[in-house]
Amino acid sequence: AIERTFSIIKPDATKRNLTGAINAVFEEAGLRIVAQKRILMTTAQAQEFYAVHKERPFYGELVEFMTSAPVVVQVLEGENAVAKHREVMGATNPAEAAEGTIRKKFALSVGENSVHGSDSAENAAIEIAQFFAGMEIVG
Ligand code: CMP
Repeated sequence: AIERTFSIIKPDATKRNLTGAINAVFEEAGLRIVAQKRILMTTAQAQEFYAVHKERPFYGELVEFMTSAPVVVQVLEGENAVAKHREVMGATNPAEAAEGTIRKKFALSVGENSVHGSDSAENAAIEIAQFFAGMEIVG
């Protein structure tokens, strides 16, 4: 089925001018960028976005990293978009990411791992609503 997922190109990637290279991977995989904006995430936005990780030891570091430089937030649309996006991103830890994936090619560490993607269609809808108004998504 045609789905939407939420994507973030993270600070380590925007700083290294990799937005276009990462978008090319998405588009080649058949994912359409139906909404996109470059923002400097506020601490409050990052804390809310990562609230499920609040008790983890890396939470503070994660919030600090995500607010340290611009990110590009996106809505991607396509056939099985959630799974396809996760496939092209590769494993969270670049040391475990498959050959040819975005994280294998570009990620610096498990924290500075270049991209975020929703883990389910349900979470995608929640995450999209945190950053986009309905009118900003043009399919
Ligand atoms: P993301 O998909 O954005 O969702 C949670 C993030 O936490 C994850 O990507 C990683 O970048 C980050 N993360 C997971 N484990 C660690 C860790 N051990 N140290 C720092 N960051 C981590």
